[in-house]
Amino acid sequence: MLSKEKNELLTRIGPATPMGDMLREYWVPACRSAKLEADGAPERVRLFGENFVAFRATDGRVGFIGEGCPHRCASMALARNEGNGLRCIFHGWKVNVDGECVDAPTEPEERRAAFAKKVPVRHHPVREAGGLVWVYLGKEKAPPRFPDYEFNTVADNQVRPMRGLLKCNWLQGLEALLDSAHITFLHAANVVAFGKLADGTLGETSQTMLKNGAPRFEFLEQPYGFREGALRDGDNQKIYARIREVALPFFSFIPGRFGGIANACCSIPIDDENTAQWYINYNVDGPIDHSRYSALRMNNLNLDYFNEGMGGWNNMWQQDRKAMKDGYWSGFVGKGNPHEDFAVQESMGPIVDRTMEHLGQADLVIVRARRMLIDAVRRFEESGEISFVGPDVNFARIRALAINYPSGMDWTKFDAFNPPSMAAAE
Ligand code: FES
Ligand SMILES: [Fe+2]
Repeated sequence: MLSKEKNELLTRIGPATPMGDMLREYWVPACRSAKLEADGAPERVRLFGENFVAFRATDGRVGFIGEGCPHRCASMALARNEGNGLRCIFHGWKVNVDGECVDAPTEPEERRAAFAKKVPVRHHPVREAGGLVWVYLGKEKAPPRFPDYEFNTVADNQVRPMRGLLKCNWLQGLEALLDSAHITFLHAANVVAFGKLADGTLGETSQTMLKNGAPRFEFLEQPYGFREGALRDGDNQKIYARIREVALPFFSFIPGRFGGIANACCSIPIDDENTAQWYINYNVDGPIDHSRYSALRMNNLNLDYFNEGMGGWNNMWQQDRKAMKDGYWSGFVGKGNPHEDFAVQESMGPIVDRTMEHLGQADLVIVRARRMLIDAVRRFEESGEISFVGPDVNFARIRALAINYPSGMDWTKFDAFNPPSMAAAE
């Protein structure tokens, strides 16, 4: 459990909250790059309890400004996007990607240009990488190090970000991404569905996953957070390890299934009770093979809101009680892991009351993550120091690994970039 004070500290991310102030000091994904077309519709983006507008200007550059027009606050999401700037449809004031007001046509001609120049516009630095528009919303003049994760350095056709919109607090989203034990239960049907071999039998690692719902957790501290080994004893003196990289404050790198495609996941606060959960699929060896997604029922998704229509309390997230009686654990028949994850996360309530929890061995990972986040926010409050992105972090060397290895070997010695040959395990 967590005290009420600590729960508040960790979960409240609006303006002028300690966690909100700290999290704004990191680069965060705002929207998919492909969503913004030159001179196309601006995109309304809500982050940390505030509203913004992202747009791609005529020259292809991206601007990120406060949503309200600097004149009288009409939404710039309604604005005309033309001539390298957004022009408010109310009175025609215009803003460019550098956050300059470049026209105020309601002013008399002789002072129009000088007047516009003096109008302040809230705007923020952006970067495009990994198929995403990233934004820095913090207070520092110079943004922090950009996280050059692998997926931020591959070609556009090697990465596929998709976003789920989750109706609960960001920490619930993050904690689900850290929790390896639930796979045995919540995702049991999908472990079976996707773990079948060509002859119809269940693969060895899937069997191990289903048999063992109490993995041992071991950790390696890292400058970006920690590496977590969830270790399950299988048959034949083997251990199946799912090794995640937890890159705080937002990211969990999850071992990929289905060959060469890896996953980076993150939970980005929209406001205290809403979260953007990004699943960033990438392939370091070449273009993503989109045919793989059809087997996963993941093609034809709305990549900006892939869980659209998943339901909620009104229909119990489409849970099928008969199927549960017939042996389908979660009852979310054929819905895939994210649907199952989102249902349980939302079911905890908008901000779960962590004073009511009873934690055990399976929760060591979230306990560790919470402690590190609390330490980081206290450090930030005291000294302004930003954790997890120091010069000793090598973002490009963060990769998850799943491996089925003979017991007696030491998982902490495995290199995800050059794994031992038995690493064929998914
Ligand atoms: S409110 Fe935008 S120009 Fe007046
Ligand atoms: Fe899950």
